[in-house]
Amino acid sequence: MEIKLGIIGFGFMGHEHANMMQTLDEISLKAVCDTDTSQLEDAPEGVERYTNVETMLEKADINTVIISVPNPLHIEMVTKCAAAGKNIICEKPAAMTVKEFDEMVEIAEKAGVHFTVHQQRRWDVDYRTMKEVYDQKLLGDIYIIKSQLYGFNGNMHDWHIYPEMGGGMLYDWGVHLIDQIAQMVDSKILTVYADLKNVINKNVDDYFKIIFEFANHITAEIELGTYYLTPKRAWFIGGSTGSAVIDGTFRAQGNTEGKIVRTKHLLESVPGKLTMTSAGPTRSFGEPEPGLLYEEELPEVHTEHRDFFVNYINARKGLEEDAIRLSEVRRVLCLMDAVRKSSATGKAVEFEK
Ligand SMILES: NC(=O)c1ccc[n+]([C@@H]2O[C@H](COP(=O)([O-])OP(=O)(O)OC[C@H]3O[C@@H](n4cnc5c(N)ncnc54)[C@H](O)[C@@H]3O)[C@@H](O)[C@H]2O)c1
Repeated sequence: MEIKLGIIGFGFMGHEHANMMQTLDEISLKAVCDTDTSQLEDAPEGVERYTNVETMLEKADINTVIISVPNPLHIEMVTKCAAAGKNIICEKPAAMTVKEFDEMVEIAEKAGVHFTVHQQRRWDVDYRTMKEVYDQKLLGDIYIIKSQLYGFNGNMHDWHIYPEMGGGMLYDWGVHLIDQIAQMVDSKILTVYADLKNVINKNVDDYFKIIFEFANHITAEIELGTYYLTPKRAWFIGGSTGSAVIDGTFRAQGNTEGKIVRTKHLLESVPGKLTMTSAGPTRSFGEPEPGLLYEEELPEVHTEHRDFFVNYINARKGLEEDAIRLSEVRRVLCLMDAVRKSSATGKAVEFEK
């Protein structure tokens, strides 16, 4: 089936999608729709422009839509597109609540249209690199995974400052960061502990730390700060036979400024030798003896956000399974509820116990 696409909401992400389509022969962008006419001015040549969704759904020669309007409007657009018989790719967060998401899934099922969510950060280079470390069991028994994203601006842009618009960082980056960890660690999540803060933005969260306790004894920690004046995107995985670290700046081409570090021998019969450090004497945390630690390269991965759409195309041809399962999207929304509950109560919340 030829994929003939319309984009609803031609703002930041709508434009990103239009650019992406130029790299994909098997999807033809036919129409874009935005209530703000200024957004439509630079739509690609030959692409129809609409200011009203119903009109686009009725008139444009499309069988698939990407929904990239602000979060609370997703359900309205899903309802309209499903009624018009269009397959749907919805931006993340798919829904404001789990209940809303369930309704969307039911609406799409009843209408017999395909419904998926654009979780393209499953194809981030840094994430895929660390997932490879995990999948290949390069570090023995893993005990900790940390995923950190720090920015310096503090203030949020546009509608992200309004709670009723689904603003705040949990709805924004939180969805991606939680999804990555939930995809990486193939185990039940027993408990969720979270701390959501308002540092600069008084109405929506702009800092969070989330700790997941998995049934396979791994602890995962996600920390995001929008006003954290040492900007970076970093990962750390600690295992019984080594540590893997990515500690770099955030770059379009991915960020794999990292390494695996191992010890030449396990510290079994170490004499309790005293070392003097700037923090005083220590027997365990001084400088390692020369040659004790050695480094390996992180695994190389070849991945890009375009792979989301490559999978989408192949899945429509029946060549692959959909990489994004609706049950996974739902689980992330449930985890976000647990995050809010834990932050509000100050207590860890049982999740899949
Ligand atoms: N996957 C990702 O990495 C990623 C990144 C950024 C944003 N997003 C998501 O994409 C969606 C849009 O975010 P954005 O940053 O592009 O926002 P944006 O404000 O830049 O664009 C949204 C556009 O929707 C238009 N719009 C609003 N109401 C409309 C309506 N009724 N009909 C048609 N158009 C309408 C607005 O005029 C605007 O141009 C959000 O759900 C957001 O979470 C996803």
